[in-house]
Amino acid sequence: MTDAGGYVTEIAYTHGFHAQMAPGPVPLALALRGVEPPDFSRPFTWCELGFGQGVNLALLAACHPQGRFYGNDILPAHVETARSLAAAAGAANLHVTADSFASYLEAPLPPMDVIALHGVWSWVGAENRGLVVEFIRRRLKPGGVVYVSYNALPGWSHHLPLRHLMKAHVDQDAGPLAEQIGRALDFAGRVAAAGGGYFAATPTALDRLGDLKGRPAGYLAHEYFNRHWDPQHFSEAAGELARAGLAFAAPALPSDHLDHRALPPERHALLREVGDPLLRETVRDFLTNQPFRRDLFTKAEEMNASGLPPVRAQRQAPPLPCSTSPSPPWPPPTACPAWPGCRRGSSPWTVISASA
Ligand SMILES: C[S@@+](CC[C@H](N)C(=O)[O-])C[C@H]1O[C@@H](n2cnc3c(N)ncnc32)[C@H](O)[C@@H]1O
Repeated sequence: MTDAGGYVTEIAYTHGFHAQMAPGPVPLALALRGVEPPDFSRPFTWCELGFGQGVNLALLAACHPQGRFYGNDILPAHVETARSLAAAAGAANLHVTADSFASYLEAPLPPMDVIALHGVWSWVGAENRGLVVEFIRRRLKPGGVVYVSYNALPGWSHHLPLRHLMKAHVDQDAGPLAEQIGRALDFAGRVAAAGGGYFAATPTALDRLGDLKGRPAGYLAHEYFNRHWDPQHFSEAAGELARAGLAFAAPALPSDHLDHRALPPERHALLREVGDPLLRETVRDFLTNQPFRRDLFTKAEEMNASGLPPVRAQRQAPPLPCSTSPSPPWPPPTACPAWPGCRRGSSPWTVISASA
């Protein structure tokens, strides 16, 4: 185990399943933007970088015997959990190691149809992001898909100072990390209680601090107390991933395609004016104050002389049947008037947060 690069290794992460990072939802999200999805009914390869406890990988391996699932995580305890989950499910198609991103670059691996990383990109620093990009450049098949999630701006901008204050307290403290984290949260609470200043100007920071006090140490350690913590604008993340030959394809959450439902009419109309697909994503993040993005990128079948994907024709999302009425009502009704078969308004299509 090497090259942690300031990432927390003292405490294991929490267990979680991220439903959008799976062979079912990925083709749906791509198809909603008119991008040819991979065919997961045939044999395929899937790799998850920094898979944590491996719940996604082990479950997907068990459910998709036609796939071969690979992954790395620098914490050996995480790798053990992933292996034992797969063994309990009788899934022999899971191959995971405790490699760092640096050593995984040299691992003997097949070309991948999908490379996925959830909750990794913003937490590992520029050097490790560079290694991830190089891994994708080497291992992703032409036409392959990358799922990546990250803390986004502008949604995180108000709370960057809160994380800075808590991390600065831990940096001058000593002892078990879980106890340091408890002291850091208490100290931030005392700074807030002193009144005025940042917490008076940013009331939501106090709400956030209150929320953190109920969270387990494993979550807090990995979310807030790594050396690096780099929320990015969409264009910054897309720019770094372009070095692996990736082009933005689609938001990974199907609900993020339903702009007519997520935005009131005047904001939706403004967004529709923006023709450039990359600027459009940025404008959407400003209109929704997006704090966290889940995106799908694809690797072009051909590269130009600079190793970059050729400029693609700009895709307009195909209109959903229920978005074709000229002025969708706001707030949206629970039954769609434009398309009798449409289930919009019922779960899960209502899971759209404009402010989070
Ligand atoms: C915030 S956790 C997310 C875990 C998992 N993807 C999830 O969403 O549940 C980030 C993961 O990246 C792993 N990680 C961080 N730096 C790494 C590195 N340099 N090489 C390999 N894994 C790393 C950590 O051990 C941790 O499990």
